[in-house]
Amino acid sequence: MQKLTDKFGRRISYLRLAITDRCNLRCQYCMPAKGIDIVDRKELLSYKEMYRIIRVLSELGVNKVRLTGGEPFVRKDFVNFLESLSFNDKLNEINITTNGALISKYIPKLETFNINAVNLSIDSLQKDKFAKITRRDVFDNVYATFLDLEKSKLKLKLNVVVQSGFNTDEIIDFIELTKDKDIAVRFIEEMPFNGKGQRKMDEDWNFKNIYSFIENHYKTINKVSSKKSSTSINYRIPNYKGTFGIIPAFTRTICGDCNRIRITATGLFKNCLFDGGVFNVRDFIRNGATDDELKELFINTVHHKPENGFVAEAARDNNVSESMSTIGG
Ligand code: 5AD
Ligand code: SF4
Repeated sequence: MQKLTDKFGRRISYLRLAITDRCNLRCQYCMPAKGIDIVDRKELLSYKEMYRIIRVLSELGVNKVRLTGGEPFVRKDFVNFLESLSFNDKLNEINITTNGALISKYIPKLETFNINAVNLSIDSLQKDKFAKITRRDVFDNVYATFLDLEKSKLKLKLNVVVQSGFNTDEIIDFIELTKDKDIAVRFIEEMPFNGKGQRKMDEDWNFKNIYSFIENHYKTINKVSSKKSSTSINYRIPNYKGTFGIIPAFTRTICGDCNRIRITATGLFKNCLFDGGVFNVRDFIRNGATDDELKELFINTVHHKPENGFVAEAARDNNVSESMSTIGG
């Protein structure tokens, strides 16, 4: 069977699929306070279309899927969709990215569906600050979800977007969570995917600066080996149960080992987070494409995956400014 490989020899085995562009929160680095213009429901991929896309891609070697959004759990029947996906025996991993505000009650189900890991977005451990960042008062729910997930069988990663002037004073608090908890905390460089473009920041909290800030606090930091395609560079404080990592989302130093493609909630196929979208799979399907035609399209498109996020960005005809909620985080 022909697999998905690009012209730099990178094997594509990982799909990130946005379930919806809607979200129940309004994180300030993701969208303006009034929200983004959400698309009409019929423009969203249906679950049947998503199922088919994943099935076809899994026949081409994709064995790992991340379901994201927007907030995937705001879409009706998402949990049923997860159950049907769990029957695809070509998938080794199904992961979910969520803000956690709505999911506590579903955790036992997620465990039975063999969901591998949940990435919980949590940018502050302080209720007031959390409300400022997300513009919603849901800290207590999210924190309860955090504790429930930690007790569950699911692997848990915390996503922390490092925001100059907001939560940099909590970096050490987040690392200290890993002392007794077997979790992975990941600090993400803030990107301009916020519905309006570049945000003015007082300080540049890039990978290097985040790392030296942490290095100033701990005597020893051990590097943890990770999969080649990992988005984060990972570390452990000696004797701590969990790990922490930094994701160079904006400085893009990890592109050489990228194994990912994305499909947005409206079916836009993206070879790279920073590209403007290559073609619309939804339209192709709705025009009657066969599985073989879909496969050919995927194989040909992936072949032209840009070398890295800078090349992808330079090739766009508009600036990077769309909300992460429409792209799929
Ligand atoms: N910069 C960095 N990370 C972002 N996310 C959303 N918008 C941005 C941005 N502008 C993160 C969320 C979540 C994941 C889906 O993407 O915090 O963890
Ligand atoms: Fe919603 Fe995630 Fe965007 Fe926050 S970052 S508004 S939780 S999609």
